[in-house]
Amino acid sequence: MGSTLPTSDLLPSASSPSLHLTHPTPLERTATWTLNSRNWGGALGLESYIERETYLMNVPLARDGGITHWILTSSSAPPSSRPILASCESLRKPALVRTPEGEIKELITHGIGSVFCDPQYRGRGYASRMLKELGKELKTWQVGEGKECLFSILYSDIGKKYYAGLGWAAFPSTHIAFPPSSSSSPKTGNIATPLTYPDLPSLCALDEKYIRDELANAKGGKVQVALLPNYDTMQWHHHREDFVTKKLFGHSPTVKGAIAGSPGSRVWAIWTRNFYGPLDSQSSHNTFHILRVVIEDKSASAAAANVGKLRSIIERAQDEAREWKLGHVEMWNPTPYAKGLIEKLGIEYKEVDREEESIASLMWYGAGNGGTDEIEWVANEKFGWC
Ligand SMILES: CC(C)(COP(=O)(O)OP(=O)(O)OC[C@H]1O[C@@H](n2cnc3c(N)ncnc32)[C@H](O)[C@@H]1OP(=O)(O)O)[C@@H](O)C(=O)NCCC(=O)NCCS
Repeated sequence: MGSTLPTSDLLPSASSPSLHLTHPTPLERTATWTLNSRNWGGALGLESYIERETYLMNVPLARDGGITHWILTSSSAPPSSRPILASCESLRKPALVRTPEGEIKELITHGIGSVFCDPQYRGRGYASRMLKELGKELKTWQVGEGKECLFSILYSDIGKKYYAGLGWAAFPSTHIAFPPSSSSSPKTGNIATPLTYPDLPSLCALDEKYIRDELANAKGGKVQVALLPNYDTMQWHHHREDFVTKKLFGHSPTVKGAIAGSPGSRVWAIWTRNFYGPLDSQSSHNTFHILRVVIEDKSASAAAANVGKLRSIIERAQDEAREWKLGHVEMWNPTPYAKGLIEKLGIEYKEVDREEESIASLMWYGAGNGGTDEIEWVANEKFGWC
């Protein structure tokens, strides 16, 4: 599979009309996973990686056609003997757009992931050709029932230039990094309580409402876009986490976040654990990711109490990171309000402006230039990653 054009002399030009964007057969899909497991197999071996990718086709968000696999290949050869010149996948997600006139649109977006070219075919423009076709295709892909697709996204691990050149502009990609806790002794006076699976549906539903309200009440002439941090999205991350931790530790974490305060003035965070390499290596960059932070009362008078609530949540995250052998805790693109709280926590942290990895990138299909000067990506947090 994927090796029918062995000599580079026989390879078609990336601009050849004989190439097209299409979907792999199940066998071809497995062949792409086999090749790209070196890049994304993380802490899993090949067999477990293929098992995970197969499993993740049937979890919320991805199932029922939510995930689509794509390849660039020859249109003249049959599936059994065509080369896989480049491959990737897209995941359908619910999103909102607020127009400069204040109209709120409920729509879908597609997150592109696992962009890959077989090493033997690299540097010939195949991935670029695939992405150019895909960018156009996704504008209308699975659009229906009154829902349009006004943008597609991806998270680049190869810097800001490549995808920007193909139409996915780089958006703010910062995070706050906290170290894991250094000892297992519980901190006294922690006011946060753990969030487990049964807590999440209602909190996610409330969060969706808060994001809708935020866009509805926004002012200013920028287009605003937001992915919805709905329960399906959180489950996609958590099923992935549960699969990997089961393989690595023999069991999975039940604590999926933490919450502090009373209804109306709560602060909560939902999180997940990501493993990219061996558990005992710092260079693995195994990371405890905060998927989403919600602060219900952002008034000035609530700030002091919010500092205490957020501190308790971060301390719980740091304890979990230590327990699950993760190198650090990351909170992506905190709002200015959240950053103001973080400065007052009294917890060591580092601010990181990423240049290479997980660059949030967006292709805009509406009017305008689609750049950061015209578009604001609201709640650009880890939950949107795929
Ligand atoms: C990235 C990748 C898909 C590019 O495939 P390709 O078919 O060789 O790409 P194209 O021929 O269309 O474009 C080549 C350009 O890709 C860019 N590129 C490739 N790898 C890159 C990297 N690691 N960092 C930055 N840019 C890179 C370069 O700009 C290169 O231009 P050059 O020819 O001047 O060096 C391929 O290198 C790959 O599969 N890498 C491993 C997986 C990966 O990192 N995927 C991206 C995840 S976001």
